[in-house]
Amino acid sequence: MDKVKIALLGLGTVGCGVLKGLKQHRGKIEKTLGKELELCSILVRSPYKKRNVEVPSELLTTSIEEVFSDPGLSVVIEAMGGLEPALSYVKLALHQGCHVITANKALIAKYGQELHELAAAKGVQLLYEASVGGAIPIISTVRHFLKVNEVYKLYGILNGTTNYILTKMWEREESYQKILLEAQSLGYAEADPTADVEGYDALHKLTILTNLCFGITPDLERIARTGIADISVDELKLAYHFGYRIKLLASVEKKNGNIHLKVAPSLLPLSHPLASVDDVVNAVCIQTDLAGELTFFGRGAGELPTASAVLEDLFYLLRNQNQNSTPDASIEKVELDYAQSASE
Ligand code: NDP
Ligand code: HSE
Repeated sequence: MDKVKIALLGLGTVGCGVLKGLKQHRGKIEKTLGKELELCSILVRSPYKKRNVEVPSELLTTSIEEVFSDPGLSVVIEAMGGLEPALSYVKLALHQGCHVITANKALIAKYGQELHELAAAKGVQLLYEASVGGAIPIISTVRHFLKVNEVYKLYGILNGTTNYILTKMWEREESYQKILLEAQSLGYAEADPTADVEGYDALHKLTILTNLCFGITPDLERIARTGIADISVDELKLAYHFGYRIKLLASVEKKNGNIHLKVAPSLLPLSHPLASVDDVVNAVCIQTDLAGELTFFGRGAGELPTASAVLEDLFYLLRNQNQNSTPDASIEKVELDYAQSASE
């Protein structure tokens, strides 16, 4: 069996989720692809920190040189966050001919174009399904399955932390600060939660989707952005009284040849499908010419939903490297029990 050597950069919420997901599904991935996965090293800042997952201590390192010293390394999963040193490490990985899977939306929003070009020049893949919408396979959908349709508009709830905060403030009438702490302890928030509550995280995700749908890289500094920090319980209650919910919406629309982007708290009538999207769930609506309106829902943050996106990227990458594998070969065959189905 071929061996695939993998390095993981970061062992926080996402990194721990990736280890847990790998533990749960390694056998299936290896059997389906006929490849053995070997996790060679895990880069962290504090090797003695208590982790939310069992991890062999010999895998932990604080040295990026040690991570890249393995000549057989072929996949790097970046789950550190922030721009530096993540950018330098991702570039290093690509330069070294490694495929990169990242969950880092700030990085892709700002440097996606440059990293794509570098990956293409090196003949490797740069995948980032986890960067938008958590578990929702929205990146692969717009990247691979909306190439013929013309997209007119895309909008949605792209930040789990703020949706969680707005939901719980409305349900429990508790303060914004108290619920933000809860969202942080659940692993939903960014290391600096200002990115969530001020709308920067949603903006990064909107930028990535805009690039994929419209082929342009918007200037992050010039996009209208308002967060949720000033919204009170009273405003949420009042909106509901008049038949609305307040949600942090990110939207991009093509109008008269121009692209308009915005991140802002918005009033949604209770009858709108996104009005009842609560807690950490994200939603994306895409309006197109052929398909009409498509809507996607799913958990937008947290350990396992994010790990799901990272591991699906890993599987996609390894399957496509596999010359002899067909999509069907990756589907586990089950027998349908017709008798039981009929009686249900
Ligand atoms: P965490 O803060 O929980 O974890 C970050 C990890 O990276 C930690 O293990 C930390 O080490 C390590 N790290 C950070 N900086 C360095 C450095 N300079 N050198 C070595 N190690 C470093 O972040 P998350 O797991 O929440 O997020 C990671 C990425 O995934 C971010 O880009 C985030 O935006 C994205 N993401 C997060 C989601 C979520 O639900 N949390 C969902 C989707 C994407 P140590 O533990 O030793 O401090
Ligand atoms: N902080 C982000 C959120 C993580 O709350 O949506 C998922 O990208």
